[in-house]
Amino acid sequence: MYDHIPVLLEESVSYLVTNPDGVYVDATFGLGGHSKKILEKLSDKGLLVAIDRDKEAIDIGKEKFKGCDNIKIVHSLFSRLDEVLTSLGIDKIDGILFDLGVSSLQLDKEDRGFSYNSDSFLDMRMDRTSKLTAFDVINKYSEKDLERIIREYGEERYAKKIAKEIVKRRQQKPIVSTKELNDLINSVVPRPKDGSNPAKRTFQAIRIEVNGELDEIKTALEKSLRFLKSGGRICVISFHSLEDRIVKEFFKYHSLECVCPKDIPVCVCGKKKELNIITKKPITPTKEEIEKNKRSHSAKLRVAEKI
Ligand SMILES: C[S@@+](CC[C@H](N)C(=O)[O-])C[C@H]1O[C@@H](n2cnc3c(N)ncnc32)[C@H](O)[C@@H]1O
Repeated sequence: MYDHIPVLLEESVSYLVTNPDGVYVDATFGLGGHSKKILEKLSDKGLLVAIDRDKEAIDIGKEKFKGCDNIKIVHSLFSRLDEVLTSLGIDKIDGILFDLGVSSLQLDKEDRGFSYNSDSFLDMRMDRTSKLTAFDVINKYSEKDLERIIREYGEERYAKKIAKEIVKRRQQKPIVSTKELNDLINSVVPRPKDGSNPAKRTFQAIRIEVNGELDEIKTALEKSLRFLKSGGRICVISFHSLEDRIVKEFFKYHSLECVCPKDIPVCVCGKKKELNIITKKPITPTKEEIEKNKRSHSAKLRVAEKI
């Protein structure tokens, strides 16, 4: 059985739930760690809508929460929040939580192809009913696109070298496994001083591309805002700078009264302030949490409240 230790659990759920009778969304249900805690805070009148794009996680979750009436578990993308809520007859929510990235179920299960420590098919789909796999990206994308993805999504300075090597190798035979990709990267990129695997950044980049992760976040944040009640909160736990930047900029933009250029004497943009930022600085895990759960080390929680 796969277990996932929920990150920043107390902190995120305390910020999220302000009304025990309210309607909440766990946009990244995973193995239900945060959902369980949210349900503990809700009364019999409260409702939790839990979404995940991973059918395997949904099936495990449905079994885990069998008999619990105030949770609806839905297999969908969080960018389809509007469709999910409308289909349940919900037009307003009291709060939404995003715990981004992959779950331990995805990372630790060899055949999901997320881990550079395993030897499995290059899959990396969070939703195994979707089409594009890491194999397709690695074997079919142009050298230029590979370089761009690895540089932008992996923040990898050796992107050019890695892309070139991928294209060279795949001309001999397709690159099929996580091990082949890991070995290839290790053959052209020096090992960082901290001893970490140089393949880490490229694996992150390919995963982001396969799952369209950054566009998913942007769309879902916009849609969340439309459904939040006044006083309702958006809580986001991110795990790397690309995710965190999107959240930070989204909160900042929607917390501004006006976005007119500074030299215009009267406001013409018509923008309204929609959010109050609750966490001026992101909340990060304690030393104790990081010791217990290494995966939490890069986590950042940001919270904003609808006006
Ligand atoms: C870090 S895990 C969440 C773990 C969960 N909070 C727990 O305590 O068990 C992230 C989950 O979000 C899901 N996910 C990521 N992107 C998604 C998206 N765009 N739409 C729906 N689910 C998504 C993944 O499939 C994964 O199960």
